[in-house]
Amino acid sequence: MSQSKPPPDSTTAVHAGTPGARPHHTLTTAIAQTATYTFETTAVLERYMRGEDPDPDREEYGRYGNPTVRELEERVAALEGADDGVAFASGMGAITTALLALVKAGDHVVLFNDCYRRTRQLVRTVLTRFGIEHDVVPAGDLAALEAALKPSTRLVVSESPTNPFLYCVDLKKLSEIVKRHGRVKTLVDSTMATPVNCRPLDFGVDVVIHSATKYLSGHNDVLGGVAVSSHFTLPFPIASMATWDKELNLESARRLRALEPQLLATGHGPVLRDPGKATVRAIERAHRALC
Ligand SMILES: Cc1ncc(COP(=O)(O)O)c(C=O)c1O
Repeated sequence: MSQSKPPPDSTTAVHAGTPGARPHHTLTTAIAQTATYTFETTAVLERYMRGEDPDPDREEYGRYGNPTVRELEERVAALEGADDGVAFASGMGAITTALLALVKAGDHVVLFNDCYRRTRQLVRTVLTRFGIEHDVVPAGDLAALEAALKPSTRLVVSESPTNPFLYCVDLKKLSEIVKRHGRVKTLVDSTMATPVNCRPLDFGVDVVIHSATKYLSGHNDVLGGVAVSSHFTLPFPIASMATWDKELNLESARRLRALEPQLLATGHGPVLRDPGKATVRAIERAHRALC
């Protein structure tokens, strides 16, 4: 597990991922509305393809990268305390790509029964067609989870709080159990929490997913998804989010901190970041407030 990074503050929500200077000194993120990128000459393109471009991070093709999208990815990664992130056209795009990247035929997946129903469908129907087995256990029942782990288990899928019943899973205990079983990874859909309330990577979770369509965006005007992680390569997007959607999501990320007082008022505040007894207290408190 990588070192836990400092909790996000308002400055992170506003500035993380922002380049030092933008073209034309614009304050807001410019929308790079392009599918492809130009190279001055064929020789310059060839140099890039050989990996010898003086700017190896320059863009080449829209699905591999877009500067507007990149700001969103870096900002959500910073808010989650992750090293990097990848944005997708929807939350299901993020979940589907992450699952397909993490498991293969013959592997086994464990997931909790209270999970967004499309995620359950994905595991139960689509992954099954690709020879990936699964077991479903009651939400947050860590004993049942441990009992379900097999030598072929490679992934545990959870949400916290879950959708629809808002069950808060003890992510620290979950990661401890999973890590005892070697090559198993944990993927947590943290859509309902947002990084304001909970940063699963701090508890040892491997991959965090967001349907950015929900609180990360917050205005019911865009679809989006993000996957972040700190210690292994994330898959590249199968379908990137439209760039103007990314700009709207970035604007929402800036406002995320403004949500905090309201979330605290509901009892579902940032205390969930603290492991151990504080986590348990926070879970109980969040349960009272949310269930
Ligand atoms: C917890 C959770 N995860 C994932 C999704 C899927 O996200 P999207 O609608 O952006 O594909 C949803 C959608 O409702 C959700 O509630």
